[in-house]
Amino acid sequence: MIVYLNGQFLPIEDAKIPVLDRGFIYGDGVYELVPVYRRQAFRLPQHLARLQYSLDGIRLANPHTDAQWAAIIGELVARQPFDDQGVYFQITRGVAKRDHAFPSGVPATVFMMSNPLATPSAEQIANGVAVVTAEDNRWRRCDLKTISLVGNVLMRQLAADAGAIETVMFRDGQLTEASASNVLVVIDGTIVAPPKDNLILPGITYGAAYDFAREAGMPFEMRPVPRAEALAADEMWLTSSTKEVLAVTLVDGKPFGSGVPGPMFRRMHALFQAHKLPPLR
Ligand code: PDD
Repeated sequence: MIVYLNGQFLPIEDAKIPVLDRGFIYGDGVYELVPVYRRQAFRLPQHLARLQYSLDGIRLANPHTDAQWAAIIGELVARQPFDDQGVYFQITRGVAKRDHAFPSGVPATVFMMSNPLATPSAEQIANGVAVVTAEDNRWRRCDLKTISLVGNVLMRQLAADAGAIETVMFRDGQLTEASASNVLVVIDGTIVAPPKDNLILPGITYGAAYDFAREAGMPFEMRPVPRAEALAADEMWLTSSTKEVLAVTLVDGKPFGSGVPGPMFRRMHALFQAHKLPPLR
C-alpha cells in the first residue's frame, strides 16, 4: 500500500516517524477521514473546513492550502487499486524534545493513507445494529477531531465487549454522540439531533443527513435530547463517514423502537445512496 508522509508517496513499510513525534508522545494532533466513492471524495470542502476548525482549536498552523490538500488526496486515491476508499490523514505538532509547551520552528508531521472503504453490510442495513449506552466522560472539546482518542477507544471497547457496534453516550442526562459516530433519533416523524456544540463532533455525515432531509421535506430539529426522550424515540440512527446511516435496533440488549429499521431510516438510507455517488462518466 502506498501512503503519504511529509511530501513523499512511499510503501507503508517504509513510512516511519521518529519516536519523539508529538502525535506519539502526546496525541498532539488532529485528523480527518474522508469517504471516497468511485474515486471521488464525498464532501471534501466540508472535511477540509472541519480540519481547519480542528487545527485552529489546537493552535496548529495548517501546513497546506485546500487546493494542496485536494491534490495530495487526489494523487493518493489514484495510487490505490480500489475505487471506494476511506482516506485517513493526520497532522501532528511535529518532532521535538519532550516538553508539553509548543515547540517553536518545528514543521508539522503530515501522514495520509487510504484503505478500502468499509461500508455497512446488507445485513446491518436490513436488520439494524446493536449499541450499548454509557456516561460520556470525555473532555469538553469533543468538537475537535483530535488524535487523542483514548476516551473514545475505551467507549468503543464497551460496545465490543458486549458484542455491539457502538456506545451511545449521555452527558448530564443529555444525548451526546457515540464513540465514532453521531446519533440522531426520530420522534413523531421529526429527526432530532443534538446541537453542534463543544460536546460532539460536527459530523460531515450528520450534516449530509440534515441537507438531504431538508431537500426531501423531512422535518429536522437540532436541540438537546434528554436521555429519556432518546431512549423512548421511535427510531435511532448512527451516522459516520464509514457507517453512512445505520438504524439502531438493539440498545443495551433490548429491542429498540419497533425492533426493525423504521420508515424514516429507510427513506434517509435511500436518499444517502442516491446522493453519495458521483455521476457516471
Ligand atoms: N469517526 N463522532 C465521533 C466521535 C467520530 O469519531 C466520528 C467519525 C463522527 C462522525 O463524523 P463524520 O460523519 O464526519 O465521519 C462523530 C471517524 C469515521 C473515525 O474516527 O473513524
